[in-house]
Amino acid sequence: MKSWRFRNGILAAILFVILSLAMLGSGSFDVTSYGAVGDGKTDDSKAFQDAWAALCQSSSSQPTLQIPRGKTFLVGSPVSFEGPCKSPSVSVKWAGTVIGPQKTWKGGDGDSWLEFANVDGLSISGNGKIYGQGAIWWKTCSGALRFRSCNRLRVLGLKSADSPRNHISITNCINATFSNLKLTAPEDSPNTDGIDIANSINIQISNSLMATGDDCIAINDGTSHVKITGLTCGPGHGISVGSLGKEGDEAVVENIYVKNCTFANTDNGARIKTWQGGSGFARKITYEDIQLDNVRNPILIDQYYCPHQTCANKGKAVGISDVWFSNFQGTTVDRSAITLNCSNTVPCTNINLNNIKITAPTNGREEVFAICNNAYGKSSDTVPVVSCLK
Ligand SMILES: *[C@@H]1O[C@H](CO)[C@@H](O)[C@H](O)[C@H]1NC(C)=O
Ligand SMILES: *[C@@H]1O[C@H](CO)[C@@H](O)[C@H](O)[C@H]1NC(C)=O
Ligand SMILES: *[C@@H]1O[C@H](CO)[C@@H](O)[C@H](O)[C@H]1NC(C)=O
Repeated sequence: MKSWRFRNGILAAILFVILSLAMLGSGSFDVTSYGAVGDGKTDDSKAFQDAWAALCQSSSSQPTLQIPRGKTFLVGSPVSFEGPCKSPSVSVKWAGTVIGPQKTWKGGDGDSWLEFANVDGLSISGNGKIYGQGAIWWKTCSGALRFRSCNRLRVLGLKSADSPRNHISITNCINATFSNLKLTAPEDSPNTDGIDIANSINIQISNSLMATGDDCIAINDGTSHVKITGLTCGPGHGISVGSLGKEGDEAVVENIYVKNCTFANTDNGARIKTWQGGSGFARKITYEDIQLDNVRNPILIDQYYCPHQTCANKGKAVGISDVWFSNFQGTTVDRSAITLNCSNTVPCTNINLNNIKITAPTNGREEVFAICNNAYGKSSDTVPVVSCLK
């Protein structure tokens, strides 16, 4: 009797260990196992949320959310993939397509459709697609994909089309890399920025294509150590630092490095824009090895940024200093190829232009020129000549 009980006890213990190991090992969380249908019609929001909740509680070493290839998942309401998760690193294998609803939900200003928040060590890969069906939402305030407070983030190979507002926003993240992205929206779609970055440190974006209705990348307040390489931008509004200092805000942006990028048929190329009345600084900004193809404003510093009809000249401004524009080649559609329009109370200092050759598209027969107000610094080998710089 005793030994029988003993044997059962042992068996139960062994079974328990095996089951635990199996659960620990099963690091795969396929949305279809949580009820997602993937027919493009059924709302799979809840299945995504449930699969994530299970993943986030998992103690396996690299739990993975699977969005399988060959299926189209309608995510009809905002989903927040919230952390912190038990595992120090989690991944999403995004191989299928995720589409937005045909109509918008009632939501607060700035609500994101898909948000990852407080998730550290997140890595997303798989060449999947996000299709925002943005045309119906372009009047709303919702972005497609937001990363909030995600440290050690990696995103590889995602495609996003027709986002409702910006495609991707990054806020309060440290150490993130994005590569091989393809973000597209029609040229005339409002506010469809490619990537917006704010309050983040150490962000790298490489080898990507962005064709949008607004900034390809916008770098906003509280951001430092951003490196952007191998980006093809256009149509769109270029790579912008700002706009900074709206409504008297203090801005802090520094160590921004943009290299080996192409702007094709964009409104702007390399742009730094600040509102009147702000304070703080935007400094240590480099744009180098830039190819231009029919760009309206290839190089633009605007300390009087004012997208509305009138903005008061408020005296104060976000200071702009230590800026390098080097090795720019190509064509502009406007004759004003370079505009440095700095504030009369807070001039731009240490602005450096070097090895710039910008011509008008008609084989350089039309003269292009530079506009320069309150900017100080140096230039060499620059066409057009920037007379205010030494
Ligand atoms: C970010 O990366 C740097 C350099 O690799 C490292 O020292 C730092 O601890 C990282 N920070 C976070 C929050 O991951
Ligand atoms: C520049 O960027 C392009 C992608 O636009 C890439 O193919 C190329 O290898 C990059 N060149 C260098 C020198 O990094
Ligand atoms: C520069 O800024 C001033 C002040 O707002 C504005 O009147 C002027 O049109 C701007 N010049 C250019 C070339 O943008």
